[in-house]
Amino acid sequence: MSDTPNPPEDPTAIWNRIADFWNDYIGEGNDFQQVLIMPTTDRLLDLKPGETVLDACCGNGNYARRLAASGAKVVAFDGASIFIDRAKSYVTDDAPPIEYHVIDATNEAQLTQSLGSEARFDAAVSSMALMDLAEIDPLLRVIRKLLKPNGRFVFSVSHPAFNSIETTLTSDLIQPGGKPKQIFGVKITRYATPAPYLNYGILHQPEPHWMFHRPIGALLGACFKAGFVVDAFEEPTFEMDAKGKNAFSWAKRPEIPPALVVRLRPTL
Ligand SMILES: C[S@@+](CC[C@H](N)C(=O)[O-])C[C@H]1O[C@@H](n2cnc3c(N)ncnc32)[C@H](O)[C@@H]1O
Repeated sequence: MSDTPNPPEDPTAIWNRIADFWNDYIGEGNDFQQVLIMPTTDRLLDLKPGETVLDACCGNGNYARRLAASGAKVVAFDGASIFIDRAKSYVTDDAPPIEYHVIDATNEAQLTQSLGSEARFDAAVSSMALMDLAEIDPLLRVIRKLLKPNGRFVFSVSHPAFNSIETTLTSDLIQPGGKPKQIFGVKITRYATPAPYLNYGILHQPEPHWMFHRPIGALLGACFKAGFVVDAFEEPTFEMDAKGKNAFSWAKRPEIPPALVVRLRPTL
């Protein structure tokens, strides 16, 4: 059963329609991924060469490729088949191999059928995707089973408190000491109740996709229920970029983290 109300259509149908736009736009990673998400995730994952890692909801596979290039054995999947086709299009003769699957992460039977149920992964990762799933319990349960006893699962999500449902990006003029100064922030008008909403992950994407707001307590509560503990919790921010970026950029808001990166470990 879904932990948020169901959206009126299959969210992965939209992802298939916007996958080419996303792939063309982000390629091997946009600023958000390259500056905030990937380095933090690398550090928390702390992969050793030869370890086996699962990338859940891998999109065009940019992080899976980064993991494979670092010497890991990578299995990656996404629910949108067009994303997996695009991920496979990056394969070259000398690239380290990556095993790709199309799997609906909200479907426990499909996850288990494709990935098995024995503890075979040293680590798992899911970058900026759990907030795009109508239901996260099935994926958490399956990853819990697939991880070796000392394994870790690192995920990132849009920050539920600062970058989620009904976040308004603000620009205000203040006059400290009588000197005009423009400040950029966020205004939050909704947080406590899980709910689906339509959102543009990238400005100008052809159509919005479904996202599923979960307050931090609900998000981590699902992780605890699946048999994980949290052992790292980071809120990366951009350095202030006062000149180069537009008013909607998170680089204008260096005090506000747009994402959460969490490391889970299986309970003993
Ligand atoms: C914001 S993108 C992130 C992709 C990638 N991890 C990255 O960091 O670029 C969210 C991804 O979740 C995938 N997704 C959404 N719903 C899914 C589902 N039910 N099963 C599997 N993947 C899903 C989308 O197709 C998309 O690739």
